[in-house]
Amino acid sequence: MNQYWPSAGGPAPTYPSLQGDLQVDVVVIGAGIVGLTAAELLRRGGKRVAVLEALRVGRQATGKSTAKITSQHGLTYRKLIDDLGEPRAADYAAANQAAIRRIEGFVKELAIDCAFEHKAAYLYGRAEESVPALEAEVEAALRLGLPASFTRELPLPFPVAGAIRFDGQAQFDPVRYLDGLAAAFAREGQLFENTRVTKVESGEPCRVETESGATVTADHVVVATQIPTVPDGMFFAKAYPFAHPMAAGRVDPARAPDGMFKSTDEPSHSFRVDRRNGETYLVAAGGTYKPGHTEEATELAEELERFLQEAFGIEEVAYRWTSEDFSPMDGLPFVGRASSGSPLLVATGFKAWGITNGTAAGAILSDLVLGCENSWAAVFDATRLRPAAGGPTFLKENLEVAGHFVKDRLFGSRSSEVELAPGQGAVFEVEGEKLAVSKDADGRLHALSAICSHLGCVVGWNSIDRSWDCPCHGSRFLEDGSVLTGPATTALERRELAPPGDE
Ligand code: FES
Repeated sequence: MNQYWPSAGGPAPTYPSLQGDLQVDVVVIGAGIVGLTAAELLRRGGKRVAVLEALRVGRQATGKSTAKITSQHGLTYRKLIDDLGEPRAADYAAANQAAIRRIEGFVKELAIDCAFEHKAAYLYGRAEESVPALEAEVEAALRLGLPASFTRELPLPFPVAGAIRFDGQAQFDPVRYLDGLAAAFAREGQLFENTRVTKVESGEPCRVETESGATVTADHVVVATQIPTVPDGMFFAKAYPFAHPMAAGRVDPARAPDGMFKSTDEPSHSFRVDRRNGETYLVAAGGTYKPGHTEEATELAEELERFLQEAFGIEEVAYRWTSEDFSPMDGLPFVGRASSGSPLLVATGFKAWGITNGTAAGAILSDLVLGCENSWAAVFDATRLRPAAGGPTFLKENLEVAGHFVKDRLFGSRSSEVELAPGQGAVFEVEGEKLAVSKDADGRLHALSAICSHLGCVVGWNSIDRSWDCPCHGSRFLEDGSVLTGPATTALERRELAPPGDE
């Protein structure tokens, strides 16, 4: 994995892994933007808080984004008004606008050196047919009090038919921001890295068990792991995973566009400028694919690189990685108690707009624990039972997952004749068992069970990050089988391959 952030700065502080048992008021699982926002606010609210991060602070979902701090979430508000009504749409808009202010407040108050800059956010369409939808979105956004306007003038090196412009938005380096927030929290709170949670028991108190056997007891558990790693609420079945190829490369400063951009075209492109060591970079996301769908990911990554070359003259992409997120069934994230009265709190389904949604979620979860009024908590309520406004799409996604369960259990996913080049991986059927086999740069083969440890779908190879990704609910595993992201909490099992000729 060769992700871009952090773009500058010295070595990041590291935190110990949890060795002994702990007792606190709140345990937060996950040190991304949701977890650390919630943890810092809870600490300020007088709670004893421990944060348990399975890997490193801020380098998972938050650190894989383009790091736009914006309430401009694509063609969102017209649909939210139509599907859920203006009051709910207005709450979603206000919560995300407030998140921009909250991030800026933390940056200033804690003097976090994270390249925070105000920028306009644009959503543009290149074809004239895209204009009516853009104009309707501007009209919807203005009704909700958002800082929107329609424009045909964009600082881009290619013609566009029209665009939405949101003013007062911002961008930053998400990892340096979270490193700063973590440092502030850790002055009084307890923060542990490389501490994977394997079990959560809800109760009075709740009990959280880690891979090393250490336990934490707490009154509340905030599960801030992008998709909850606890089965409570079955959120893996209420939000479906999707992914984007990501790329960053040096751009001529004279061709670097001023602002943050996203297109309505298919495949969509999302990009913004960053400066690193005196050089100017463009950081970009490409089209959407299903995790584990290897060929689709590769094609979209190539398409993104062609776009960067043709539009901005970027000859060499220096960083390539993928980002994954989850789309909720009715267009609104799930934030709050996992079930009515539960001491487990969750946040998921940010639809790739996790910087502001994640900050809003952290604040809502903190208010729920502290017993403070939060006027936006109701719209994000994780226990809601609303008709799936995402209707046909959500149904299609669930049918696809069901299809994966059936197909993956009955048939091999790949022919056992496939040969692997270094850096490649594929699923083979060997003596009736599906094996996820990859070849590293030195030509060594690594074999794992291809059966996802969450609920048993077959994983697919991600050649950009060199990971095994599950198409069903988005779990990801490193080449050695260890968990990169949930909902899975246990590794893919290792397998031995018979030496060549030993058949
Ligand atoms: Fe659920 Fe793989 S993530 S089966």
